Amino acid sequence: MNIATGVGVSDMGRSDRNYPVNCWWVGATSAEVADRPVSRWLLDQRVVMYRQQDGGLVALEDRCAHRAAPLSDGKIEGDDLICPYHGFRYNPAGACVDIPSQDKAPRSVKVRAFPSRELAGFVWLWMGDPTLADEKLLPDVPWFADSNFLQISGDMHTACNYMLIHENLLDLTHFAFLHADTLQQNGWDGPPSEVIATDSTVTFKNEVPNAPLAPFLALPMELEAGTIVDRCDWGQFHSPACHFGGIDIQIPAPEAGKRSGYTFRIMHCTTPLSNRKSHYWWAVAQDFGQNIPGIEQVLTDVTLRTFKQDKDVLEAIQETMDRDFRGANGPEISVVSDNAAIRARRMVAAMVRAEIENEPRANR
Ligand code: FES
Ligand SMILES: [Fe+2]
Repeated sequence: MNIATGVGVSDMGRSDRNYPVNCWWVGATSAEVADRPVSRWLLDQRVVMYRQQDGGLVALEDRCAHRAAPLSDGKIEGDDLICPYHGFRYNPAGACVDIPSQDKAPRSVKVRAFPSRELAGFVWLWMGDPTLADEKLLPDVPWFADSNFLQISGDMHTACNYMLIHENLLDLTHFAFLHADTLQQNGWDGPPSEVIATDSTVTFKNEVPNAPLAPFLALPMELEAGTIVDRCDWGQFHSPACHFGGIDIQIPAPEAGKRSGYTFRIMHCTTPLSNRKSHYWWAVAQDFGQNIPGIEQVLTDVTLRTFKQDKDVLEAIQETMDRDFRGANGPEISVVSDNAAIRARRMVAAMVRAEIENEPRANR
């Protein structure tokens, strides 16, 4: 199997994975975790999220320590969660504090509690060693909680390894083909003008001077599609869980009194449910178009049509790689525009290898 690409990994749990567990992964939107428990699979593990009376977030393993019933089907009482099967009661730290059928709950009865944070409208969970959960590893993405920006967001399930989504985001030469009738974003006939890698991130930048404005930008900017602008498209593989980027637009000679700069930001969060299934979350923030009635729906529609095109091709790729008799040895060549994606692949492979080497066997 190939850790970097996920080709040849089985769908039988963590023993054969290409995702790191020591990472902040998105589990839900903040709005979803309200008055009822929310159950999600993340990294081959079932997790339940709910809120305490003061609004504080709780994330526990969604598997009762007694007979593996989903705690998410139970009831929240005060700050605790009660298993629906035989009524074991768990506190926000995951300790079982009551077993109705006997006097005492032994201290050994507990479920895992996961560190959690809320940022940019999402709930982020640390699925690995809690002592390594460092807030500084969360992305710095202020635009998605800035009231000066118009925001839209959504999510979809994709039947592919999460790294296929990252690779799609790191090679935008697919715009000219896959999204020719949706985004219509030009300037991607070749690789990006710059790719910069650090120890844990890969950033690409593509300066596109004198570019005709695509309709999905022109409409909220209240300009004609095709208006000539200077653009910089950029994106960053921030972690295996998150890619964010943007489009910075400059109008070369704005009319008197009109603005010259426009900011568009996008974030993609890629949570593996398993090696073959991903929950993909996206958010857009832009500092233009806020006053156009109904614009959110129009922009959401074009975004969803675009991402459906990505989903369809990525799921087809996954199926081809899975069913081809050559498995992980199937042919694959890379070209110049794959530079950023290849760097991200190598980073992830190194992270996973290091984790697996350091992990107690029982956690694998
Ligand atoms: S399975 Fe939860 S109390 Fe029995
Ligand atoms: Fe795409």
